Amino acid sequence: MYQLIDGKIISEQVKAEIAEEVKSMMAAGKKRPHLAVIIVGHDGGSETYVAGKVKDCGDCGFTSTLTRFEDNVTEERLLEEVDKLNNDENVDGFIVQLPLPKHISEDKIIESIDYRKDVDGFHPANVGRMVIGLPCFVSATPSGIIELLRRYEIETSGKNCVVIGRSNIVGKPIASLMMQKGYPGDATVTVCHSRTKNLKEICLQADIIIAALGSPEFLKADMVKDGVVIIDVGTTRVPSTETKSGFKLKGDVDFANVAPKASFITPVPGGVGLMTRIALMKNTLLAAKKEIYG
Ligand SMILES: NC(=O)c1ccc[n+]([C@@H]2O[C@H](COP(=O)([O-])OP(=O)(O)OC[C@H]3O[C@@H](n4cnc5c(N)ncnc54)[C@H](OP(=O)(O)O)[C@@H]3O)[C@@H](O)[C@H]2O)c1
Repeated sequence: MYQLIDGKIISEQVKAEIAEEVKSMMAAGKKRPHLAVIIVGHDGGSETYVAGKVKDCGDCGFTSTLTRFEDNVTEERLLEEVDKLNNDENVDGFIVQLPLPKHISEDKIIESIDYRKDVDGFHPANVGRMVIGLPCFVSATPSGIIELLRRYEIETSGKNCVVIGRSNIVGKPIASLMMQKGYPGDATVTVCHSRTKNLKEICLQADIIIAALGSPEFLKADMVKDGVVIIDVGTTRVPSTETKSGFKLKGDVDFANVAPKASFITPVPGGVGLMTRIALMKNTLLAAKKEIYG
């Protein structure tokens, strides 16, 4: 019988811990943690994510500030805003919600953020520090996955870990974290992508599979061995007649058939996504406490 890795329970637990810590900070006369968010345009997905982030800040006892720009904002104007937040002593950390309109270079914007306030963990300084094992802001999704492994005390040392996907926001950073010295880490990591030839054989050797490719129900039961740990990162909207919205979220794993072979498995929704949300709050708290960069 498999154990469900419940992102809802764990994310609520982490949120309560953060809120508790903020209360103690307040009692000690410290400043309330402050996250600022910049949103550009009216992309439906971005609006939903940002609303969630503002709500999470409230739940955690943080101050949040939202700055909106229209789609036609210039790169120069956005860079000015980033500079303002970099120098605003009241703001502990901030994010620029992605994606940005095509005429704005995301790389340029990310690199202009002071890495000490980069609570999204996308700045090359934070990514580089993560790779060499230095304290840093780890980006939200890999950070959430690591938290789940830790809270469920899943053994990673010496395990074969297969990561499917090599994106900068999930595949590469989680592969890097799983191979770091210490727990959770010390795994033997293989990264698969669209050019990988013998993916099924590689997956059959895996003790832990982290699926982050964005292909609904890609990982089938005949691709995994008994006792495997499954972390499903995929979230693809597929049309559905069962929901009011007319769509539902599907993971990259054929849950119904893979779960009976697994020892631990995350559901979609209710797994990694909720942890991703709370990871930003954790980074904001770390920024407010100046725990990483002093
Ligand atoms: N739950 C969350 O909080 C969260 C957060 C982020 C992302 N996601 C979800 O996670 C999924 C992946 O996101 P992403 O941003 O990492 O995606 P991405 O940038 O599109 O990257 C997908 C990766 O999967 C690889 N891939 C695609 N098809 C493959 C196949 N048939 N076999 C092997 N590898 C294949 C690609 O290979 P190439 O590099 O060769 O093209 C690429 O490296 C999406 O469903 C996304 O919505 C969820």
